[in-house]
Amino acid sequence: RTYDDPQIFSHRTVLVRSDLNVPMDDGTITDSGRILASAATIRELAEAGARVVVMSHLGRPKGEPDPQFSLHPLAPELAEAIGRDVEFSADTVGEEAKTKAAGLDDGEVLLLENLRFNPGETSKNDDERRAFAAQLAELADDFVSDGFGVVHRKQASVYDIAALLPHYAGSLVRDEVEVSDRLLNDPQAPFTVVLGGSKVSDKLGVIDNLIDRADNLLIGGGMVFTFLAALGHDIGASLVEKDRIDDVKGYLDRAEAGGARIVLPTDIVMAASFAADAENWERPVAELESTPAGAQGLGLDIGPESADTYAKIIAESTTVFWNGPMGVFEFPAFAAGTKAIAAALTDPPETSNRLTVVGGGDSAAAVRSLGFADDEFGHISTGGGASLEYLEGKTLPGLEALA
Ligand code: 3PG
Repeated sequence: RTYDDPQIFSHRTVLVRSDLNVPMDDGTITDSGRILASAATIRELAEAGARVVVMSHLGRPKGEPDPQFSLHPLAPELAEAIGRDVEFSADTVGEEAKTKAAGLDDGEVLLLENLRFNPGETSKNDDERRAFAAQLAELADDFVSDGFGVVHRKQASVYDIAALLPHYAGSLVRDEVEVSDRLLNDPQAPFTVVLGGSKVSDKLGVIDNLIDRADNLLIGGGMVFTFLAALGHDIGASLVEKDRIDDVKGYLDRAEAGGARIVLPTDIVMAASFAADAENWERPVAELESTPAGAQGLGLDIGPESADTYAKIIAESTTVFWNGPMGVFEFPAFAAGTKAIAAALTDPPETSNRLTVVGGGDSAAAVRSLGFADDEFGHISTGGGASLEYLEGKTLPGLEALA
C-alpha cells in the first residue's frame, strides 16, 4: 500500500522507518548514500505538513545503548540532506521521545536514537517484538515504511508496527521494489548478472533464482575460487568454500543444460599475502600455482583479460545487475577489476531502455570510494541483503506487512 498525495499526512504525526545504517569510522560517516536516499520521503512528508518522526537502526548493537552505534552523529547530515532542522531524541520510546514527538509542529522532524538499543526490536519472540512495536506506535498516527535495506528483517519497526498503525510504503521502498521487480520479472535481454564478493554461500540463492532468467552470470571476487576448485584448478592459497563445491558443480551443470552462461575469469591477480603492498603477479587460471615467490599465492582480483571480457559483455547487455566487488578493491593494487565493471556500467547506454542496477550497500560504497558518482548508474540500490533476498524470490516480511 502506498500513498499518492503526501498531503494526507498534513497535521499528522508520521513514523518513518528509514535505513540510515551507514558505514562509520570512529564516529565519522564514511558513505552517506543511505542518508541521501532516505531524504526524499522525509522531505516530502515534512513539506506536506506532517510531523515526522524518523527511526532507524545503525549497526548491530546488542539490545542495549552502546555509544559507538548512536544515531546522534547522523542528525546534522540528515538535516542537510532534507534542508530542515532535525531534532534528536536520545531515547527511542522513553519520556524524551514521547515529549519531543508530541511537541512537533507541522513540518518538523525528529530523529530517534538507534532502535536496536531496545531488545524488543530484533527479538525472535513475537510478543516481545509486538510490545516494542506498540510503544513505537504510541508516538504517531501513521507509519511509512521507507527502509528498503531492512525489509528482509522481521523486526518490530519493520514488520510488527504495520499491524498497529495505518501503513504505507515510502517513495524509496516504492522505487526499489519497482526496479527489483523489473529485474526479476521483466528483464530486457540480454540480461547480465555480475556477482562478486568473498563468499559464494552468500550468493547461492540468487544464482539459483536467476540462472534460468539471466543470459550471463559473470563471476568475480573471492567466490571465483570455489568455482575454479569445482573445475579442478589448483587455486593455491586462495579463499575456497569446500562445502559449497557440490552446489557450484550443480550450477555449472544447469548452465550447460541451457541456463545462463556462467562466465569465469581467465586470469587472476595473485598476491604473496593479504596486504595492500603484497608482491603480486598476474596468471592465467590454468597456471595459478606458478609463483615468483615460490610460496603459494592467493587470488585478490580478476585479471585484465577477464576485466575486458566482462566489460564487453556488460556493454552488449540491456539489463545488468551487479552485486559484490571483483577483488579486494580497498587495496589499490587489487581494485582494477571492480573499477572496470563500474566503468562498463557507467558507459553511455547503447539502448535507451538500458537498466543498470548496483545492488547492495557495500557495492554502492565501493563504487563511490573508487570515484564514481551515483547518477552515473541507472539505479543504486540501498539494499544489500534485502535486494539479494528479493532477487532470490523470497517473501520479505517488511513488504508482506504493507500488503
Ligand atoms: C544492511 O546493512 O543490509 C541493512 O541495514 C540491514 O542491516 P542488518 O543486516 O544488520 O539487519
